[in-house]
Amino acid sequence: MKVMIIGGTSGIGLGLARHYWQQGARVAVCGRHPARLDGEAFARDSRVSVHACDIADRAAVARVVAEVASGAGLDLLIVSAGQYTDAAAIARDRSSTLPVLRVNVGGLDHAFSAAADAMMAHGQGQGHLVAIASIAGLQDDYPNGSLYSASKRAAIAICGAYRKALAPFGIAVTVIVPGYVDTARLRELNGGDASRKLFLMSEQEAVQRIAAAIARRDERCVFPWQMHALATAFNLLPAFLKRARKK
Ligand SMILES: NC(=O)c1ccc[n+]([C@@H]2O[C@H](COP(=O)([O-])OP(=O)(O)OC[C@H]3O[C@@H](n4cnc5c(N)ncnc54)[C@H](OP(=O)(O)O)[C@@H]3O)[C@@H](O)[C@H]2O)c1
Repeated sequence: MKVMIIGGTSGIGLGLARHYWQQGARVAVCGRHPARLDGEAFARDSRVSVHACDIADRAAVARVVAEVASGAGLDLLIVSAGQYTDAAAIARDRSSTLPVLRVNVGGLDHAFSAAADAMMAHGQGQGHLVAIASIAGLQDDYPNGSLYSASKRAAIAICGAYRKALAPFGIAVTVIVPGYVDTARLRELNGGDASRKLFLMSEQEAVQRIAAAIARRDERCVFPWQMHALATAFNLLPAFLKRARKK
C-alpha cells in the first residue's frame, strides 16, 4: 500500500504518517519544511520518502504527486495541511487571510485533483482521498475564526463534490471532521496550553479514529460526538442568543 500525506511534517499528519508506516505501508510525507522530520527515525526508513512542497502551488503539487505515484501508483492520499487565522490576527495583518484560502481551499483542490488523475492513470479502482476538515466548518457562526470556519466548510463541500465525481471510478472520498486535538499547533495558538479547550482529544486518539474511518471508507467522520452535538445545538439557537455567546 502506498500512502501520501500532505501536511505530514507535524501534528495529526505526522501521527498518521507514523501509523501507516507501522502498518507496513510505503509512506510519502510532504510539507513545506521537510527538515522538521530530521529527528524522526521512521523518516529514514527505506519505505518512507520525504518531499518539499507547498500545497498552494498547483504545479508543484501535480509534480510531487506524479513522482510519488510513479511505478506502483498511489492508494491513499491524506491532506492534513491547514492554516488558521482569526479576527485578532487579521486586525494585525490583513494578509493572514491569504494562506487560509490558498491552503485550506485551493490547496485541497490541487491535491485531490492531482491524486485523482494519478489514481485513474494507474487504473486504481480502490483509490482513496481523505481531507482533514474541522467541526468549525459545521458551525454557522464561529467566534473570531469565521474565515477558518468558512474554509473548512468549503473543504467539506469539496470532498462532497469529488466524492460524487469520482464514485464512477471507484475512488472513495472521506472527510474527517475533528473537534479540538491536542497538537503543538493548537497549543501554540492557545498560549502554550490547550487543556481548557472543550472535549480536547489526544493526538494519538485522533489518529486512531481517523485511521479507523479510513479503513471503513467512511464518507464522513465527525468526532468527538460531544463537540458535534454542541455545534449542532448551537446552530439551532436563535440569532439573539448566538450574539450573546462569549467572544
Ligand atoms: N489541532 C486541532 O485542534 C484541529 C482541529 C480540527 C481540525 N484540524 C485540522 O487538522 C489539520 C492538521 O492540524 P494540526 O493541528 O496537526 O496542525 P499542524 O501541526 O500545524 O500541521 C499542519 C501541517 O500542514 C503543513 N502545511 C501547512 N501549510 C502548508 C502548505 N502551504 N503546504 C504544504 N504543507 C503545509 C505543515 O507542515 P510544513 O510547515 O512543513 O508545511 C504541517 O505538517 C489542519 O488542517 C487543521 O485545520 C486541527
